[in-house]
Amino acid sequence: MVAINWFRCVGLCCVLLVISWSGCVADEGWFWHVTDFHYDFSYTDLDLSCNDDVTNHGEYGNYWCDAPWRLVESSVEAMKRFKPDVDFILWTGDSVLHTGDEHLSIDINDGILSNITNLLVEKFKSTPVYATFGNHDYYPDAQFPPSNNELYNRTLENWLTWITDEGEKENFLKGGYYSVVTAHGIRVLALNTNLYYTSDKLTGNLIDPAGQFAWLETLLADAVTRKEKVLITGHVPPGMVDTMSKSWMYDHFNTKMNEIIRKYSDVIIGLHFGHEHMDNFRVYTKSDTPVVTMFLAPSVTPWRYKIPSKTGAAHNPAIRLVQYDRQTGRHLNMITYYMDLPASNAQGIPQWAEEYNATRDYNIDDLSPNSMNKLALRMSSSNSLEFNNYWKWRVVNVQDAMMEECGEACKANVVCQFHHVDQSTYDACVLKAVGKSSCLLQSLVTVLISVLTCLATYT
Ligand SMILES: *[C@@H]1O[C@H](CO)[C@@H](O)[C@H](O)[C@H]1NC(C)=O
Ligand SMILES: *[C@@H]1O[C@H](CO)[C@@H](O)[C@H](O)[C@H]1NC(C)=O
Ligand SMILES: *[C@@H]1O[C@H](CO)[C@@H](O)[C@H](O)[C@H]1NC(C)=O
Ligand SMILES: [Zn+2]
Ligand SMILES: [Zn+2]
Repeated sequence: MVAINWFRCVGLCCVLLVISWSGCVADEGWFWHVTDFHYDFSYTDLDLSCNDDVTNHGEYGNYWCDAPWRLVESSVEAMKRFKPDVDFILWTGDSVLHTGDEHLSIDINDGILSNITNLLVEKFKSTPVYATFGNHDYYPDAQFPPSNNELYNRTLENWLTWITDEGEKENFLKGGYYSVVTAHGIRVLALNTNLYYTSDKLTGNLIDPAGQFAWLETLLADAVTRKEKVLITGHVPPGMVDTMSKSWMYDHFNTKMNEIIRKYSDVIIGLHFGHEHMDNFRVYTKSDTPVVTMFLAPSVTPWRYKIPSKTGAAHNPAIRLVQYDRQTGRHLNMITYYMDLPASNAQGIPQWAEEYNATRDYNIDDLSPNSMNKLALRMSSSNSLEFNNYWKWRVVNVQDAMMEECGEACKANVVCQFHHVDQSTYDACVLKAVGKSSCLLQSLVTVLISVLTCLATYT
């Protein structure tokens, strides 16, 4: 009898020790973020997405075109090879190519979405994918209605393995949004922010398309009560776009979205969006204290836009891996991998490599709002090494010869968008920065004139 009691006691102590020990060790997990595949099924044939005459169709793509299937496949294979054991995958939409509506249909768009869904399931088996729509996924382009439609129905069929809750299925059928709790208890809010995009002609006059804001606020309020940690994901990001000095969203939607994010910043561990095709971030502040970071992942498609007045930057395909603390949700690090497109085409073998390791290469402690804010502040100084790196990584390591210059005005816009997500404070920031640089220019001119006057007088 006595012996058995001893045995039990030792066993119990061991169990307790293991439990308390596991509380001491940080519980770290990883997730992938992949976005903007823009799969062009007509590459090498009709080249429906290509913005220029392409004479040399590389096997893995061309900077003027959307992604051929080889590139789509290679990206998911690279994810699998670099890190197969992730907790989940964020996939933030825009799977359909850039082309006119006359070349698309609900059948074609749904076919592309199901092709890529199948690829992710085939490669990652049971790893959950939290998928969201991009503006290009809808037919006609970007015209998401604030109500049920055939594309929501057909996409839900594709995503049934990932959206299983009956109530969430209803949300998805109504507005293309839903919520899931991960295996480690993080609440993911997967939004359909295409409803707020300025290209959507059906929603601009509404206050709350498909009731998504009301739903979002209810879940965030619940998260506060339940002490949940929330990750928010979607395609079209809120905030200000430095190249346009406008938001992607209708102004009243951007304002509303930002209000909600600030109000519930205590429970929000991060925002992950796509759409810009560039590597970018924005920091939300509340009375000057950084509270939430939004990360914008670069795209898989290398496509550069071209409109009569403007040509977009060339960029390489990219995928992003995030390391986070499963208990607190704190973002610890982020590795961005890229494909060297010219080298891959030249060698006939996909050349994927690590592009940068955020904590190491930006010299920050982690990806917390505080660290990202410090980084953004360091970038605002002139000749900032961090800014030069950002500028190169923003377009995913294209060759120097293809890089665009970023002069004073360009840099002012970029730095202002890091810190200012609302139109009014962003405009004020840009005005101040430009004011400063023109003041600097004026004093330089004054100095130059006095030097010249001096020389003229004394020689
Ligand atoms: C994509 O799906 C369609 C059916 O919708 C199929 O015919 C086609 O072969 C698929 N393409 C690829 C590359 O998997
Ligand atoms: C979508 O599916 C729901 C039921 O799942 C159905 O009630 C609705 O009519 C369908 N919508 C369309 C546009 O087909
Ligand atoms: C990123 O860099 C840090 C610091 O050098 C290092 O400890 C970590 O292992 C790196 N992460 C990856 C995934 O390479
Ligand atoms: Zn896109
Ligand atoms: Zn988009």
